Amino acid sequence: MSDNPKPTRYASWTTGKLPLPELAEMKRRGDKIVMVTAYDAPSGRLADAAGVDLILVGDSSGMVVHGRESTVAVSLDEILFMTQWVTRGAKRPIVIADMPFGSYEESDELAVRNAVLLVKEGGADAIKLERGGTSVARAQAIVGAGIPVMGHVGLTPQTATVLGGFKAQGRTAERAQQLIDDALALEAAGCFSIVLEAVPPAVARAATQALTVPTIGIGAGADTDGQVLVWHDMLGFYEGRSPRFVKRYAELGEAVVEALERYAEEVRSGAFPEEKHTYGMPEEEQAAFEGDSVERPLVPGEIGREHEQHR
Ligand code: KIV
Repeated sequence: MSDNPKPTRYASWTTGKLPLPELAEMKRRGDKIVMVTAYDAPSGRLADAAGVDLILVGDSSGMVVHGRESTVAVSLDEILFMTQWVTRGAKRPIVIADMPFGSYEESDELAVRNAVLLVKEGGADAIKLERGGTSVARAQAIVGAGIPVMGHVGLTPQTATVLGGFKAQGRTAERAQQLIDDALALEAAGCFSIVLEAVPPAVARAATQALTVPTIGIGAGADTDGQVLVWHDMLGFYEGRSPRFVKRYAELGEAVVEALERYAEEVRSGAFPEEKHTYGMPEEEQAAFEGDSVERPLVPGEIGREHEQHR
């Protein structure tokens, strides 16, 4: 038996960082790839402990963490800081930093500069950018600079206004073909994987068959090579309206409120803190501290009598 047996929770086992080429191998073997978003060190550590393969430091943070209405206003600094936090917690999973709106569209140079920042200062293993079209050239430039790129087609929240809102995409034969063409162009540009968001399963299946790189679906049915969900959605932290493709695996928001209510009740009743939650001090030190030898402020009845002898 090997010294390093594959734990059952991993489809693919390595002692350190999951190597990027392993994702293509997983597609070839038919092993599903598991991806989740994370935005800080504890969530990175927990996703790693659960055997998740890919972590996305998504700009969905703008909505689920920072309470915005959309992802558009998310800044590069926000993604950079969150990537630093996540990579401190997650060791095995490949950590992908989402390039926020405005950080890559303008030119190849800007796209490469910002992708380099996310890798160099953020510690990201790879970056993700949205859409086909001009993003294909940006993806190619970033890959050319030596940084792995994940594509993202279908519902692309950064440009939801152009798409008519947060709506499923590729629902006509023509739009479905366009979506697959975009995915193929991103693959040709060197992307190592493509996210398919909110597209009918038939379209996701066709894209998955047409591409040699793995597809990661979100609201794209069961036939993609992997799945991604947003941390706050799947764990029940997000209060807003969740898309229909979200499955809640826990109701941690409710658990948090319940715990905080108990805490508030115990603080108010004096039940918390107990002796075991406090720090002791040596008895003689406490006696000296509480005794008359310790200087303490005079209380009103003592003022003017401070030189009287105490018996
Ligand atoms: O930002 C994000 O969380 C994403 C996923 C929904 C794929 O882009």
